[in-house]
Amino acid sequence: MNKIPPVDLTRQYKLIREEVGTAVLDILYSGRYIGGTAVTDFEQQFAAYLGVDRAVSCNSGTDALYLALRALKIGAGDEVITTPFTFIATAEAIAAVGAKPVFVDIDPQTFNLDINHLTAAITKQTKAIIPVHLFGQPANMTELMQVAKANHLFVIEDCAQATGAEWAGAKVGTIGDIGCFSFYPTKNLAACGDGGIATTNNPEIAAQMRIVADHGRSDRYYHQVNGINSRLDSIQAAILQVKLAYLDRWNQQRNQLAQQYQKLLENLPGIKLPQVLPAAKSVWNQYTIRVNCQEKSPKLRDKIRQQLGELGITTMVYYPLPLHLQPVYQQLGYQQGNFPIAEQAANEVLSLPMFPELSFAEQQQVVYALKDCLVEVKSYASLS
Ligand SMILES: Cc1ncc(COP(=O)(O)O)c(C=O)c1O
Repeated sequence: MNKIPPVDLTRQYKLIREEVGTAVLDILYSGRYIGGTAVTDFEQQFAAYLGVDRAVSCNSGTDALYLALRALKIGAGDEVITTPFTFIATAEAIAAVGAKPVFVDIDPQTFNLDINHLTAAITKQTKAIIPVHLFGQPANMTELMQVAKANHLFVIEDCAQATGAEWAGAKVGTIGDIGCFSFYPTKNLAACGDGGIATTNNPEIAAQMRIVADHGRSDRYYHQVNGINSRLDSIQAAILQVKLAYLDRWNQQRNQLAQQYQKLLENLPGIKLPQVLPAAKSVWNQYTIRVNCQEKSPKLRDKIRQQLGELGITTMVYYPLPLHLQPVYQQLGYQQGNFPIAEQAANEVLSLPMFPELSFAEQQQVVYALKDCLVEVKSYASLS
């Protein structure tokens, strides 16, 4: 049996090897390894792709979030509302500027922030909301923006997993005040290393983000604020320019794969398939099912994952422990049971292999193996 990885970056590279090679060599020959037109051209192309005025590139998605918060002057004494069911970077950036992450539970269907809980979490200290478009599916931005506007809060979209996704026809990263993207190698638009970008229609916010990312300077050796060094390397920018031209095609391929999974796994007892809201266009950074029979067989998800691994299929668990229960946030005072939907998701989620070049035969192999595993853990009969 063939081994199937959760993601195989070499397949994509082989398809665009020559273009990427030329782009990298051009930078190497140019001698301009920091900044230059590779970076400024990419920023413009990315902004045009989204339909937003400005894009400020930086070292990572984490830095993009940090720059966004700094540009909005959010810091000590402020609160920022976000989801506990995300990668740590979302909350980490809030803590890094000295503000307090405030979590609200998620929607069980989409794994995204449950808008119904937002208003109760808002205090006088609340300055912003950071929705995360998890696994490629946008959060409900219509309702979220209504709550934000009514309470005069900034909205920073964490688009790390959702480059190209749309909510009600608008690309994510163009709806809130700032959109933050990651070019980590497993993202939909990925560098061959680290990279990130922050997008906005507000020129002052863009200027502030640039200043903070560039050692807090307005001019060479004149520093206005305490900044950081956060740059997108020229080589990465050149590679990203090549890849941006393919992004829509790759996202379509992911969508096709998701539809196929949906058909192949339909009506399989013991699992629940991902659901996409009518206004959302997901870009399927992950295809995440729920093994939703914990009460009958605790840790069934982990058993299935292990057995799939023995059959050569590597699956992932994003995320096994919600952020409010992470040791690092103990001082925030949250406890088990505070966000039951996120806690349940952490026990049930299983991300199946998903990348544009995954073949139909491989998908079938994943599905057959999953069916076998469900039978083998002897839960199948009791579930059906
Ligand atoms: C939801 C989310 N936010 C932020 C980040 C941080 O991005 P980066 O790894 O580029 O710092 C990631 C990526 O890992 C992510 O998945």
